[in-house]
Amino acid sequence: MYIHIPFCRSKCAYCDFLSFPAGQDECREYVGALISELSFYRGESIRTLYIGGGTPTFLEETQLIRLFEAIRKTFDVSKMEECTVESNPESLSARKVEILMQGGVNRVSLGVQSFSDRINTEMKRPTRKRHTLYSISLLREAGIGNMGLDLILGVGKEDQYRKDLDAVLKIMPAHVSVYMLHIGAGTMLERMVESGRFTPLDERTFERLYGDTVDALSEAGYIPYEISNFALPGFECRHNQNYWEGGEYIGAGLGAVTTIGAERKRNACSMRDYLRYIRTGTPPVVWRERLGETERRIEKLMLGLRMSKGIPIGELNELAERSSLGLVRSCIEALVRLGYAKRRTDRLSLTISGIMRSDEIVIELLRAVEGEGEPVF
Ligand SMILES: C[S@@+](CC[C@H](N)C(=O)[O-])C[C@H]1O[C@@H](n2cnc3c(N)ncnc32)[C@H](O)[C@@H]1O
Ligand code: SF4
Repeated sequence: MYIHIPFCRSKCAYCDFLSFPAGQDECREYVGALISELSFYRGESIRTLYIGGGTPTFLEETQLIRLFEAIRKTFDVSKMEECTVESNPESLSARKVEILMQGGVNRVSLGVQSFSDRINTEMKRPTRKRHTLYSISLLREAGIGNMGLDLILGVGKEDQYRKDLDAVLKIMPAHVSVYMLHIGAGTMLERMVESGRFTPLDERTFERLYGDTVDALSEAGYIPYEISNFALPGFECRHNQNYWEGGEYIGAGLGAVTTIGAERKRNACSMRDYLRYIRTGTPPVVWRERLGETERRIEKLMLGLRMSKGIPIGELNELAERSSLGLVRSCIEALVRLGYAKRRTDRLSLTISGIMRSDEIVIELLRAVEGEGEPVF
């Protein structure tokens, strides 16, 4: 189960998630509505819970307690393997960490992005290095061994990124996520780029830094199990693995997506609409679709390409029509020849340079499966 908390103290320049600043009154009203929505799924047994955002720990203490109590009363949590909460360093306190632990949280994903105060200021982030170090020590002292730290590659220059990665390696958290900076349409960062106030790293620097990241983290004992995710053995995020393996999940809260069997549905993204649905006792779903068998298999393969174990080539071939088998074969050959993919016995996985072009590669593989022509790399 995924639960979305869309609130943050302020909006970061690069962020295009469904998140916004809010007052605590709005947060309280939302938590009430969310608890009502959860009751639509009463009795479900939850294996992994991910409370993400936004900044779930931006909620005040009483709202966090209320939410965890509702979760415990509404669901069967006896088989819960992993319960993650996303957090920003400046929103944590010793009391909040205690509330998380009492609520059954056993994993915290902390958004560091960079240890540089200058970069965080430039990105309109309230987080300071002292907040980050303090939160890490709070989590450690409380005994949350399964701590993930997120970095964004590309918010600063090469030197600073190397310092950030070194700092993470000194801390040695159980899990590290390194996301490549995405400049989303309509974000403040996009305007900063357009007006020349921010210059993104060039592609070659990205590729080199990403390659060095994989090497440094692997050498330190992390398993690079997904494009952006690295874990010490046994600390892979089970909740996210379920997504990448095409598993089922329930999403609750603003804009959350649910996939159960062949049905996929999405909640309202507008707070007014979301609250109105809940007030009238109606599920806040604004969009539904039925996924065909082929569509689900294609999606599973494309998600599988994000993981370092890759995908079974046999399944790609099975999806292709007999007439497009040749196209699939030549697409795979081109990927291997160009150094974008590796073939290990019967599996295909992306290399570092493939990862840098993964969107393009997925499109070409799909075109091949659907018989639409030779790859255009
Ligand atoms: C859903 S966000 C929320 C986490 C939390 N609110 C925070 O900002 O730390 C999860 C992660 O996505 C990453 N992220 C957000 N915007 C990004 C962007 N434009 N490009 C790359 N990574 C991004 C950050 O590393 C962040 O920690
Ligand atoms: S704190 Fe996280 S979710 Fe909130 S605006 Fe910043 S990046 Fe987005």
